[in-house]
Amino acid sequence: MRHIIMLLLSASLLLGWGKTGHRVIGKIAEENLSPEANEAITQLLGHTDLGRIGNWADEVKSDPQWDHSHDWHYCTVLEGHDYEGPEAGGRAVQKVIEFTKLLKKGTLGKQDQLDVFRFIVHIVGDLHQPLHVGNGTDRGGNDVKVTWFRDQTNLHRVWDSQMIDHMQYSYTEYAQQIQLGLGEVEKTVMLNADIMQFVNTSRSIHPQVYEIGDGKLSWKYIYKNRELMEDRLLKGGFHLAAILNDIYQ
Ligand code: ADE
Ligand code: ZN
Ligand code: ZN
Repeated sequence: MRHIIMLLLSASLLLGWGKTGHRVIGKIAEENLSPEANEAITQLLGHTDLGRIGNWADEVKSDPQWDHSHDWHYCTVLEGHDYEGPEAGGRAVQKVIEFTKLLKKGTLGKQDQLDVFRFIVHIVGDLHQPLHVGNGTDRGGNDVKVTWFRDQTNLHRVWDSQMIDHMQYSYTEYAQQIQLGLGEVEKTVMLNADIMQFVNTSRSIHPQVYEIGDGKLSWKYIYKNRELMEDRLLKGGFHLAAILNDIYQ
């Protein structure tokens, strides 16, 4: 029994942003698609609800057919380095680049297009979760044990889901809240996505993310990090829209 519980616990550790995080990013992206991307995605999915498909890549981790995709959700940037490729651990960057090229080429059958599309939507979101760009020492904070209010957890999970869930918004409410008051200039700037740039940004905010004191995280940690977390969700949404707008011109 204890082993089963441990297995269940560890299986839940390695997911990306939690369900709400991916839905918020999908929703923001969907609201910022070009007419051409909107049209192409409707053809592919039958709708443009990116919130609905954003978590599929985590769900298929339970399907042995997709065992080879487990390291597509993160990458590693060692301390004092820039991103140097998948050798450091995690193939997220490589896969986004590869899958973007594949969709642009336009030679995939419908099922492959759908799979590749769902992975892009998911992985671009994951790469905005600062701990999905790991430092190579602690599995993206999964090994950093902390408490979240009264719960035993780890830093990775706090960022994937616990801080977001604490806000008690639905994903549609949160997507709307996060975009309140955005100006057109700001939007235009964010609708340019450079994968190396957003990976480096995720990595560059680690000092703040890892500022955990005695590891008892609650109100103070939220107070210090909420704005940063919401900014990563916002950028995740806009950068995803930018990547999809670029694919479907
Ligand atoms: N496993 C190893 N590094 C990881 C990371 N940064 N995120 C999720 N899982 C990981
Ligand atoms: Zn995660
Ligand atoms: Zn993921």
